[in-house]
Amino acid sequence: MKATYLDPTVGQYMLAHTTLPDDVLDALAVETRELTGDSAGMQISPDQGRFLTMIAQIHGAANAVEVGTFTGYSSICLARGLAPGGRLTCFDVNEEWTAIARRYWERAEVTDRVELRIGPAAERLRELPEEPAVDLAFIDADKANYTVYYEILMSRLAPGGLILVDNTLWSGHVADPTRDDDTVRHMREFNDMVSTDGRVTSIMLPIADGLTMIRKH
Ligand SMILES: C[S@@+](CC[C@H](N)C(=O)[O-])C[C@H]1O[C@@H](n2cnc3c(N)ncnc32)[C@H](O)[C@@H]1O
Repeated sequence: MKATYLDPTVGQYMLAHTTLPDDVLDALAVETRELTGDSAGMQISPDQGRFLTMIAQIHGAANAVEVGTFTGYSSICLARGLAPGGRLTCFDVNEEWTAIARRYWERAEVTDRVELRIGPAAERLRELPEEPAVDLAFIDADKANYTVYYEILMSRLAPGGLILVDNTLWSGHVADPTRDDDTVRHMREFNDMVSTDGRVTSIMLPIADGLTMIRKH
């Protein structure tokens, strides 16, 4: 369970009452643990994946962007929720991990709607054209650059577009005054910036490690 800041009994109850992932996502979770070891902890959780698919569906997302693909779990969840003809552009620096993602895009039958761009996302995101505007973005990469990714995406986001940001509660440490390391500081600064950004409406959701949903006016 990633929502370690919740009472474990409540957290397990919530997971037990959320629609389960399918066999492809289950197999990806197993293979990610086998092939990436401790890094597998970076993978989003099944409930978060369910939320991403449902938000993409509800929003009717047609031009989505993901920053931080790893072995592909969240990209499959987003791609499955896209509107007919929709596209997902994924950004990551790691060829080895995203090779696993490519294999699972085939298995999930979403390869036709997903494109991967390898390289530092702060550089590669700037290559995105202004049109068509992005209508849904998911940020789940290096925390130090969250503000950079947010600003680039904001400049390409349609009015009413959504940005979803992972790890914004950082195991609850952002709200614990005794915690103070680089990542905690990055996440606090990011959360403070979003909550005072007059261009958007935002809400922090207690899903997994904290998921902030941001809507551009
Ligand atoms: C938390 S993982 C993403 C997990 C993924 N969303 C999933 O569902 O499994 C973070 C990813 O960000 C990537 N990353 C780290 N720094 C990056 C950078 N500067 N530019 C692009 N990707 C980066 C890592 O290679 C890693 O795959």
